[in-house]
Amino acid sequence: MPDIIGSREKAVAIIEKGGKREALELMEMYPNVKSVLKKQGGRSGVYRIYKMKLLSGDRNTEVLHREYGMLFKLDPRSVYFSPREAEERQRIAQLAKEGERILVMFSGIAPYAIAIARQKNCEIVCVEINKKAAEYANENIVLNSFVGNIENICADIKKVYGKLGRFDRVLMPLPETAFKFLPQAFAVAKKGAIIHLYGISSEEKLFSDLEGKIKKTSARHKIKYKVIRRQKVLPFGVRMWKVRIDLEIK
Ligand SMILES: C[S@@+](CC[C@H](N)C(=O)[O-])C[C@H]1O[C@@H](n2cnc3c(N)ncnc32)[C@H](O)[C@@H]1O
Repeated sequence: MPDIIGSREKAVAIIEKGGKREALELMEMYPNVKSVLKKQGGRSGVYRIYKMKLLSGDRNTEVLHREYGMLFKLDPRSVYFSPREAEERQRIAQLAKEGERILVMFSGIAPYAIAIARQKNCEIVCVEINKKAAEYANENIVLNSFVGNIENICADIKKVYGKLGRFDRVLMPLPETAFKFLPQAFAVAKKGAIIHLYGISSEEKLFSDLEGKIKKTSARHKIKYKVIRRQKVLPFGVRMWKVRIDLEIK
């Protein structure tokens, strides 16, 4: 199944297999699809972007994506965005509590921050290293009318975490390497704070791998915590899963 990002007016389809013929068929089947991109391998680099080839249609692949009444402007060729994580964003927004101070590390175009702000009155800080993604985040915060609720910072979280204050909740949606940023999350977490840590695991070691990494890092930093939730988020290839572990800091 292709990922279709955009709206009824203009969307981009992203496929893994097929060529020009399949691209034209897709555009015929979905008249709103104005461009078809083909992935050239997996996500790569610090920005976690797919290299993609334009198979057919408009070279301008910037779209306005609709999700649960929210609007996200983005170009999938320059920023990370996954429409498959829509349910996960809703889950996180439901877990957030009114009045919390929330840090979204690795915030991208700000879909998690906006999903939370739409449901709860919270003070949210986003930190994203990709300048283009941070620019889209600024636009999306305005588009969804959350200017007063969400602060957006374009920076490496490791360089700025010390200046952000303390938080009731910390999101870490960078599944491949988020565990490496646990020391920064521990440093900004208030007592009782919740950390949502994402990871990639095999079917066999679903949560145990990531829990092992949490145990090691927390011991090194003398942090006491309790695992309060384990969530399978999405399938991630053959017998692999994107998972989330929620920790409460003691
Ligand atoms: C998996 S994407 C998630 C983006 C967004 N949260 C979303 O769900 O659409 C991870 C993001 O982290 C950003 N990133 C990677 N390393 C970072 C760092 N050290 N500090 C801040 N952002 C970083 C990448 O540029 C990328 O946009």
